[in-house]
Amino acid sequence: KQGGPVIAVDGPAAAGKGTLAKRLAAALSLPYLDTGLLYRAVGRLALDAGQDPAAPAAHFAETLTPEDLARKDLRAPEVAAAASKVAAQPAVRQALVETQRRFAAAQGAVLDGRDIGTVIFPHADVKLFITASPATRALRRFLQLGGDQTAPGAAAQIAEMEDALKTRDAADAGRDVAPMQVAADAQIIETDSLTADEVLALALAYTRQRLD
Ligand code: CDP
Ligand code: CDP
Repeated sequence: KQGGPVIAVDGPAAAGKGTLAKRLAAALSLPYLDTGLLYRAVGRLALDAGQDPAAPAAHFAETLTPEDLARKDLRAPEVAAAASKVAAQPAVRQALVETQRRFAAAQGAVLDGRDIGTVIFPHADVKLFITASPATRALRRFLQLGGDQTAPGAAAQIAEMEDALKTRDAADAGRDVAPMQVAADAQIIETDSLTADEVLALALAYTRQRLD
């Protein structure tokens, strides 16, 4: 086979996909692509242009630059919400398909997203679906964005985060084009009671067994 293995890491918001995919790539000496960043960058450009994220945004996806992807403000919750809206547009997704496939062509890759194992690489060598309860994921994202769980008002902010994640998950799973779903041949890792180290150990063991 040409190139190295393709490893798909899919799952809902803030499940730990990126954390795992990056570490898996390092452990296996494979390139890593955060595909959510592509949609976040398109969502950011739509917001910058003052347009409703539901308005046509394919031109942003078609002309995406490395500078757009390197912006520091792509992790904000409002950008995630805009990303989910532009990601429901077939023309936006179409504009990003080749970029994602080409990324893995030379050496293989680990990619994390929503549709990697179902649409982008339906024949990926390894497919992982990383998940956790909404409450766990909301807390993870709150802490990741610098939140202090002991500060006054923290509980309300975490609850608000959970609502935002649930809204985004429902939109991502319910859209017509490339909805988030578990590939038939994906290994599901339920991470509520696992540390990132434990998830990596499980994923590496499964991956090595699959690649043998
Ligand atoms: O990429 P995705 O949105 O799925 O999640 P992430 O940004 O990789 O992870 C969200 C946060 O959860 C990060 O701060 C991780 O350190 C933390 N975390 C994790 O990734 N895995 C666990 N088992 C526990 C916590
Ligand atoms: O890090 P988190 O899981 O919160 O989000 P992300 O992976 O950065 O993705 C942001 C949004 O982009 C998602 O809510 C999806 O709507 C969209 N996305 C997608 O449609 N397909 C992908 N392969 C990756 C992201």
